[in-house]
Amino acid sequence: MSDFPSFPPDFVFGAATAAFQIEGATREDGRGPSIWDTFVRRPRAVLGGDTGDVACDHYHRYREDIALLKELGVRSYRFSVSWPRVQPTGSGPFNAAGLDFYERLVDGLLDAGIEPAATLYHWDLPQALEDEGGWRNRDTAHRFADYARSVAEALADRVPRWITLNEPWCSAFLGYASGHHAPGAREGTPALAAAHHLLLGHGLSVPVLREAGAREVGITLNPDHVTPATSGPGDVAAALRAETQRNLMWTEPLLTGRYADGEDDTWGELIRHQSFRRDGDLGVIAAPLDFLGINYYTPSVVRAAPYRDEDPLSRAADDNRFEGVGIPRTRRTAMGWPVVPHTLRDLLVGLRERYGAALPPIHITENGSAENDVPAPDGAVHDTDRISYLDGHLRAVAAAIADGVDVRGYYVWSLLDNFEWAYGYGKRFGLVYVDYATQRRIPKDSYHWYQALITAQERGTTGPGLVRPVPGGRPTR
Ligand code: FCB
Repeated sequence: MSDFPSFPPDFVFGAATAAFQIEGATREDGRGPSIWDTFVRRPRAVLGGDTGDVACDHYHRYREDIALLKELGVRSYRFSVSWPRVQPTGSGPFNAAGLDFYERLVDGLLDAGIEPAATLYHWDLPQALEDEGGWRNRDTAHRFADYARSVAEALADRVPRWITLNEPWCSAFLGYASGHHAPGAREGTPALAAAHHLLLGHGLSVPVLREAGAREVGITLNPDHVTPATSGPGDVAAALRAETQRNLMWTEPLLTGRYADGEDDTWGELIRHQSFRRDGDLGVIAAPLDFLGINYYTPSVVRAAPYRDEDPLSRAADDNRFEGVGIPRTRRTAMGWPVVPHTLRDLLVGLRERYGAALPPIHITENGSAENDVPAPDGAVHDTDRISYLDGHLRAVAAAIADGVDVRGYYVWSLLDNFEWAYGYGKRFGLVYVDYATQRRIPKDSYHWYQALITAQERGTTGPGLVRPVPGGRPTR
C-alpha cells in the first residue's frame, strides 16, 4: 500500500448492498410482493429463471454479514430498505415486523462501530402500486414521501445518511422503456412520466426526511461518461442525446431547477406530451441536497444511429438515435463492461466544472466489478482482476479530490455476491463469495486487499500523499 495516495482523514470507506439482491425471505413476516417478485416469474425475464426468494438469505444471516463488515473495517455500510417489507401495499398500514428487521440491522451495525447509510428505493416498488400505474402515476411520488417519513421516523435517530432513490434512470428507462427490468414495460411518454415522478418523489421526500431527523439527505444517480465515436457533427449530437438521457435530465432539474436543454432533440414528440409536468414541480425537485451519490462502473462511446422504431406512436423513450460502440484494447469485466478507470476522475471533474458551487459533496455510492470468481483448490478466491479494478478506480477518486472535487466517501459494490437483476446469480460482484448451495461466505482476496487499504489509510501508512487535507479548506494535491 506504500504507493497508494492518502485520502483525507475523514474520508468514508464503505461497502454497499440492496434489499432485493440479498435479503431473500420474500414471503416472511408480512412482506408484500414487489415488482421484482412479479418480474422474475415472467418467462425469460431473468437468466436461468433465478428469483430473489432466497438470495443471500441475509434476512436470517444479517448478524454474520455485519461481522464480515466489521472485520473488513469499513466506516459505513449502505443498505436499502425494502418498501414492501415495511409497507406491504405501498400505502396504508406499516408492517411492524418488517420495520423491526431494519431496527435490528441498524442496531447491529452501530454495535459493530459502523455507520448505517440507508437507501429508501433500490427498485423494489410494492406490486400494489404498480397495479395502479407505478411510477407513471403521479400519486406514487406522494406514496413514496409518506413511506420515507415513516421509515425515517423509526430510524433517523440512528441512521445519519439517507439516499432517496438509487439510479432513477434505471427505474424509468430499464423499467418502462427497454423493459429489461421490472416492471418490464416498453413505452414512450409514460416512461418519461415515470422519470419525472421519480424526481418528484425524491424532491417531496427531502424535507420530510429532514423533519424526521435525517442529518444528511442525498440521491444516487448513475451518470455516464459519454464520448462521441468521432468528431463528426452527427456523432457529437448523438453523444449529447445520450448525455441528456443518462445525465442531464437528472442533474439539471436536481441541481439547477431547470429541465435539460437537449430534451427536444432527444425525445421530440414524446416529451412534448408533458402534461405530467406541473407548475411548481421543479422547485420541489431542486430541494437542496447534502450530498450527491454517484454510482460508476464503465464509460460509453456512442455514434449516431437511426430510430429503431420508425413509428413515433409506438417508439420507446430510450429510442434516441444513438448506439454504443466498443472500446478497443480495454479489459472487460464479466458483465462485458470496459474497464477505463480514469473516466471516473474525468466524470467527477466534469460535474464540478459544469455545476461549480451548485454541486454538493459527492459520495461514490457504488463502484466494483463482476468477475468469473471460482474458489481455488486452496479454498480461497484469487480475484486479482477485481483488485486491479478497485485499485484503478480508487486512484481515480483520489485524482479527482486532488483536482478539487469534494468527494467524501466510496462504497464498494458489493459486500456480497448477490442477485444481479436480469442476470440472476451468474454475475458475482462481491468482496465476499457466496456459495448459494450452502450460503457459506468466503472473503475473496479483494476483501483482504480492501481491508489492508483501509487499515493503511487509517494508520497513515500510505505513500507520498497525493491527497492532503488543507486546514479549513478542500483537500488539494
Ligand atoms: C447498479 C445497481 C446495483 C448493482 C450494480 C452492478 O446499477 O444499483 O444494484 O446491480 O449496478
